[in-house]
Amino acid sequence: MAERVADPIIRLRGVTKTYGEGATAFQALKGVDLDITGGDFVAVMGPSGSGKSTTMNILGCLDVPTDGEFMFKDVHIETLDRDQRALVRRKYLGFVFQGFNLLSRTSALENVELPLLYRGEDKKTRHDMGMAALEKVGLDKWWDHTPAELSGGQQQRVAIARAIVTNPDVLLADEPTGNLDSERSVEIMKLLTQLNQESGITVLMVTHEPDMAAFANTIVHFKDGLVERIETGMRARVDA
Ligand SMILES: Nc1ncnc2c1ncn2[C@@H]1O[C@H](COP(=O)(O)OP(=O)(O)OP(=O)(O)O)[C@@H](O)[C@H]1O
Ligand SMILES: [Mg+2]
Repeated sequence: MAERVADPIIRLRGVTKTYGEGATAFQALKGVDLDITGGDFVAVMGPSGSGKSTTMNILGCLDVPTDGEFMFKDVHIETLDRDQRALVRRKYLGFVFQGFNLLSRTSALENVELPLLYRGEDKKTRHDMGMAALEKVGLDKWWDHTPAELSGGQQQRVAIARAIVTNPDVLLADEPTGNLDSERSVEIMKLLTQLNQESGITVLMVTHEPDMAAFANTIVHFKDGLVERIETGMRARVDA
């Protein structure tokens, strides 16, 4: 059987990012080249300040490169304007942050439905898709609880449900377990692994912890604003 050679879903070429201007300018990315294969589970590691979040924000269409090319599904994202980038974001990408970023007075279900509201879906569609996403993260029975009534691990699972409710192709997670203890962190990793393997979502996750990176198939190591090295072909850890 011929080996399947997948086109990368994400391709960065010579991506630079400079924050500020003049004497205070700081080059956070110095020419990043990176290919991400569709369906991969990628951990992004590297010292503090090495450019991991800067790269994630560019990949998530939240920020733009100063220079270089960012191709997503063969579209040159760096040529798009803000509104066009927002459409790409809403259609294809989901985000999870370290701090969960849930609306506090709002139920789990309403938090999860939010991206669908922005997309103009009707009430029944929002409800059905929201509940389906909560079910995927094992929290459908908790749909009417507010974040304060949920544990940290549960809040992060709600945030993941919100990120996947639109059925994105790529899930970007910047230190998703940074605020969680190790037991809760492993639960989140198992969930990301399950979403990757069962729903085929490409997962990119920043982590400082080798134990968490061990769940990924590929590890991208950043150093000083560049990709220093890439470990590939690892077997995802599913039995932790
Ligand atoms: N908005 C900004 N304005 C100015 N400098 C910034 C900005 N965001 C990031 N930087 C700088 O760019 C560099 C890379 O930051 P980045 O947040 O990408 O690092 P990181 O690898 O995610 O680090 P950490 O592991 O601490 O989260 C750092 O030196 C940081 O101070
Ligand atoms: Mg960071």
